[in-house]
Amino acid sequence: MYDLIVIGGGPAGYLAAERAGHAGLNVLLIEKRSLGGVCLNEGCIPSKALLNSAKMYDHALHSEKYGVTVEGAKLDHAKVVERKAKVVKTLVAGVGMKMKANKVTVVDGEAVITGRVNGGFGVKVADKDYEGAKLLIATGSVPIVPPIPGTKEGLETGYVMTNREILDMTEVPGKLVIVGGGVIGLEMASYFATAGSKVTVVEMLDKIAGPTDNEISNLLLKELQKKGIEFKLGSKVVGIEPDGVLYEKDGKTEKVPSDKVLMSIGRRANTQGLNAECLGVKINRGAVKTDDRGQTNVLGVYAAGDVNGVSMLAHTAYREAEVCINNILDKKDIMRYNAIPSVIYTSPEVAGVGETEESAKAKGIDYICKKLSMRYSGRFVAENEGGDGICKILVDKKFNKVIGVHMIGNYSSEIIYGAGMMIETELRVEDIKELVFPHPTVSEILREVIFEF
Ligand code: NAI
Repeated sequence: MYDLIVIGGGPAGYLAAERAGHAGLNVLLIEKRSLGGVCLNEGCIPSKALLNSAKMYDHALHSEKYGVTVEGAKLDHAKVVERKAKVVKTLVAGVGMKMKANKVTVVDGEAVITGRVNGGFGVKVADKDYEGAKLLIATGSVPIVPPIPGTKEGLETGYVMTNREILDMTEVPGKLVIVGGGVIGLEMASYFATAGSKVTVVEMLDKIAGPTDNEISNLLLKELQKKGIEFKLGSKVVGIEPDGVLYEKDGKTEKVPSDKVLMSIGRRANTQGLNAECLGVKINRGAVKTDDRGQTNVLGVYAAGDVNGVSMLAHTAYREAEVCINNILDKKDIMRYNAIPSVIYTSPEVAGVGETEESAKAKGIDYICKKLSMRYSGRFVAENEGGDGICKILVDKKFNKVIGVHMIGNYSSEIIYGAGMMIETELRVEDIKELVFPHPTVSEILREVIFEF
């Protein structure tokens, strides 16, 4: 019997297996597709490889304002996709090596829970049975495929794509319609607009980027419009036709022409076919319910990552996995969700952590907000000719503690963890004023804004 069986080899599963193996547990990891899960194979990493090529191309196109002349700059999409595949292959192999180094047994195939056996849990892969004293469910999430007419047929022919197919497409479509202006939709819009597509994003809400701070979301909208991306806001997609996407706006149905369609209207926890019900594991609208230690209602059965439906982000999954393993090892640890950064890797980048003005108001928190243009950072000005952005900080009036930081402007993705640390460690404004930031860095913008308080 294994000490622990981990089902799913994405960020939650592979990190849990690594930590547990490192602590000396005898671990079995079962993965049906490829180690690394969605994040490594068809999400975070491959999309960043594409976006980096777009950034380089964009730099080449606009290099003259920096005193550099580049002639004949060209983005070869097929080559970009080829490089992306290489990056993914390297990193997937790296995960495999980590499993080996931590003596984790990896089995390829789809796991089905069979029930309780010998005081532990039974799991079947094809016709082979395994037993584990503890079980960790880390089966991730799948794209939501809405019952919008034409979607199913479009997915079958390849005309409609999800995050998986779009990252492998070797040609740049002339007209790309993106359904959903969330994170996936915006990152792909950013890449394909630079690569040469006429991109239209159709979004049901009146804003893009979902829970992002409204002011930042509006600034991002303007920046993306400048790149030629068209947005249909307050527009609900109601049909997919072979030559276009139908949407409803103000009671009227209109059509936007398309050569390809990306369906990115969110993801749902993946528990189908797992048979967790046979153990009596509580599942709420497809997601496994867990407590703050990652344990389900069944003693010894844990869940981490997208499958719990709480915060569908790889970095949340990492931490949830650690919390599960620490509890399995009898070390006290609980999951906190108040300081989880979120990043949108568009150009410009957007990053935020903690309360937004909207969420603070909704919770009745008495806060003060101060903000500055990113141009208060010398390095930002030196490296972003004609570019701008903002950084805003929210401070709880009562305790004088930072409760939210939101930024738009490049390097935000690399800076936001520092803001997360301020929130997590409950730093007060006066504590942060004593911190020394390296100069010149864009991160100094945090220090500039803090001195506004
Ligand atoms: P999302 O939840 O971010 O956005 C989906 C959008 O689709 C929403 O704005 C929603 O209003 C809209 N929508 C829904 N139905 C619609 C309809 N019929 N017509 C028009 N609009 C409609 O979902 P997305 O972008 O698919 O991303 C899925 C998950 O992947 C997210 O949970 C995200 O956290 C994760 N992700 C994170 C990234 C990052 O951290 N940089 C990058 C990519 C994905």
